[in-house]
Amino acid sequence: MTENQTITARAEQLRRELHEHNYRYQVLSAPIITDAEYDHLLHELKTIETDHPELITPDSPTQRVGSDLQSDMPKVQHITPVLSLGNAFGADDIRAWRERIGRLLPENYALDYVVEPKFDGLTIVLTYEGGILTLAATRGSGEVGDDVTPNVRTIKTIPLRIPVAAGGPSVPAHLVVRGEVLFLKNDFATLNQRMAAEDLPLFVNARNTASGALKQKDPRITAQRPLTAFVYDIMDAKGDVPLSQWGALAYLRELGFLTATDTIQHFDDLEDVITYVEGFVERRDKLPYEIDGLVIKVNDHATFADLGVVGKDPRGAIAYKFPAEEATTKLLDVIANVGRTGVLTPTAVLDPVFVSGVTVKQASLHNYDLIAQKDIRLGDMVIVKRSGEVIPYVIGPVIVARTGNEQMISPPECCPVCESPVDRDEGEVAYYCTNPACPERVARNIEYFVSRGAMDIDGLGERGVRLLLQEGLIHDEADLFVLTAHDLLPLEGFAEKKVDNLLASIHAAKDRPLARLISALGIRGVGETVAELLVRHFHSMDALASAAAEQIEAIEGMGPHTASALTAWFAKSHNRALIEKFRTVGLRLVEAPPQADDRSSDVLAGKTFVLTGTLPTLKRNEAKALIEQHGGKVTGSVSKKTSYVVTGADPGSKLTKAQDLGVEIVDEEGLLALIGDNTMGENE
Ligand code: IVH
Repeated sequence: MTENQTITARAEQLRRELHEHNYRYQVLSAPIITDAEYDHLLHELKTIETDHPELITPDSPTQRVGSDLQSDMPKVQHITPVLSLGNAFGADDIRAWRERIGRLLPENYALDYVVEPKFDGLTIVLTYEGGILTLAATRGSGEVGDDVTPNVRTIKTIPLRIPVAAGGPSVPAHLVVRGEVLFLKNDFATLNQRMAAEDLPLFVNARNTASGALKQKDPRITAQRPLTAFVYDIMDAKGDVPLSQWGALAYLRELGFLTATDTIQHFDDLEDVITYVEGFVERRDKLPYEIDGLVIKVNDHATFADLGVVGKDPRGAIAYKFPAEEATTKLLDVIANVGRTGVLTPTAVLDPVFVSGVTVKQASLHNYDLIAQKDIRLGDMVIVKRSGEVIPYVIGPVIVARTGNEQMISPPECCPVCESPVDRDEGEVAYYCTNPACPERVARNIEYFVSRGAMDIDGLGERGVRLLLQEGLIHDEADLFVLTAHDLLPLEGFAEKKVDNLLASIHAAKDRPLARLISALGIRGVGETVAELLVRHFHSMDALASAAAEQIEAIEGMGPHTASALTAWFAKSHNRALIEKFRTVGLRLVEAPPQADDRSSDVLAGKTFVLTGTLPTLKRNEAKALIEQHGGKVTGSVSKKTSYVVTGADPGSKLTKAQDLGVEIVDEEGLLALIGDNTMGENE
């Protein structure tokens, strides 16, 4: 095939696929690909057609405005067309957009811009006559929409009368605004919790659920769905309204509409716009609502209007699309992953699919209850999400894509590794392997034991641990401490230098503080802070091992769950045997109580601190040491007994908890002030 034939064939294929997806989306309300996947196909076709205008056919999906009209709802003729947006997928696309519009403007014409979130919801057009909401319509075909007024009246963030506040700005006699209806992430999660509690199938896609809720024939059903609406545009007005987008957003907010105040920005320079939008990806997951990009708009309304429209897209705005976080693919298999504690996590084996920059082959299915609640079946087309640092997971099945050959998924009856029976605690969702000697559990425990956060044995990773187990050189954590060069040198990849370093590192680990050893055991809820509390109280492994749950719980900063996890752990004979082996190989099992002269002062005596966030100069362990040197205590969780919460950048939920409980909050400077003269005294 010549290059031209290839392009012609590709355009033809894209048209065919896009037509089918359009039909599934618009007519059947049953899409089998994500919006982002659709956008990419359309973008590819548009790019081909720009380079080869001769390939544009009258029936090309690029030539028509999509429609989501519902046949059985009353119709509304829009006063002005409800436009859409062109897409940009990177900085170059944004610069190309600026160049395109620059050619239509006088030379050196300066532009300023507003950047807004691109809400992942549904357009809503709201008409106010004399300040009263009289009509609410969907976008529909862009010319004609569905009348959804009774449903929209149930949405609490949409004012029925404006201005909402008594002293608000005056309202034009006739005002048409545009916004987006969606679920806040929290509200969608709550809705699904409610569904789960009632044993009803969960909603998979927030946008489709919002669409379904908005188009209900009975507004009482809409009222039960916690929808929200953000407003971002004045489409028409009889009377005075601001002349810029930035002004319009402020005005809409003053009238009482919900606007994305914390996300919108004004810029004079396009390069600043680019820096902002490219840096925004990080913030995306932290927003309370889903966005699929940002919209860049020419601020001045007159210039925006002069630039006109191409197809259905105004030239004065462009949507910067983030890399898609969701994709559809086939669920080929479900395997159970055995974790350190024996918990079996169902993992999806997928037909490889490209999501937000990487190829995903496996994804978490969380737990077997969720598989049932979401009705995920083997062979299903599923939606996979990969966002931020979270491991990819399966959101849910595309039920309409079913062929009838899909199979139900049931929890395993035995451990896939050691074939021991599987059990499940009452009230818990997780199934787990009941065999503490399960090779997979043992391997994972040892991997955890040697990891940096635990005993920090340098030079031994997952591969090394598995090799040592496989060769029969170790059977548990304690065996590591009797390894010799003679054992290690014959192993593949263990050259002399590596062996020397590893043995030195193992030797050094023998002298780790007792708290480190305790936290390295991987007991549920026992991290470093808790382990240190325990050591301060019991001073030895033996004292801790024979402590009763009540004794442990009585320590400030300890909860009942951790206390019972500890006693359960020490009650098991193989764990006690492990401790004995630790003793034999010479690990440190006692810790002398801190000497009085370790202290610089006692100014913080009797005070309990909780640290949250990153402090400007002190590292977490330095802040902790400082507090302890001055007689204070550091615990991991905030309670009424906490004296101070020390906060830094990006504090966690501990800060909110402190505020709720009225616990005093200080920053690093505040902490140093508490220690005050004593620190200075030290320097003298
Ligand atoms: S402006 C002339 N601004 O994105 C105005 N649209 O892909 C054109 N959308 O159909 C639209 N957030 O439903 C605009 N801040 C925002 C938006 C936004 C979401 C939606 C809108 C539109 C779609 C286009």
